[in-house]
Amino acid sequence: MTLSQEQLDLVEAAKGARENAHAAYSKFLVGAAIRLRDGRVFVGANVEICVFPLGVCAERNAVAAAVVAGAKYGDFERVVVVGHAVELTPPCGACRQVLAEFADASLEIVTYNLSNGEYAEYSLGDLLPNAFTGANLIQP
Ligand code: THU
Repeated sequence: MTLSQEQLDLVEAAKGARENAHAAYSKFLVGAAIRLRDGRVFVGANVEICVFPLGVCAERNAVAAAVVAGAKYGDFERVVVVGHAVELTPPCGACRQVLAEFADASLEIVTYNLSNGEYAEYSLGDLLPNAFTGANLIQP
């Protein structure tokens, strides 16, 4: 599989965001870009805080940017995550759950490794099978 021009454009957007990551403690910079079905792109980078649990991942910051701009459930077309490591950087479990708040299992997620040009493409369902969703909150 090769990345499409649209996917490569998102890699570039995520790379730009990654340059603004505040990864003062881990030194692990991550960028994310979300493209909406209407073509708009929103980016995020990880923002770490000296009280470590308060840090927020790149993906969740990109989700917040999209939602604040009006994105609703079903509007996300694809997400690209960019890291620089020996291994690929897939979204963490918390970010998978947050993505599931706004997208179904078919959401495309691409992760791209700046250190070697490797990438992988998943669906949200691949990464978060049997997700707990709002539907699971409905009580008899
Ligand atoms: N991180 C992300 O931003 N996204 C991921 O997909 C994995 C991890 C961040 C969180 C933390 O700031 C740093 O990378 C190390 O875990």
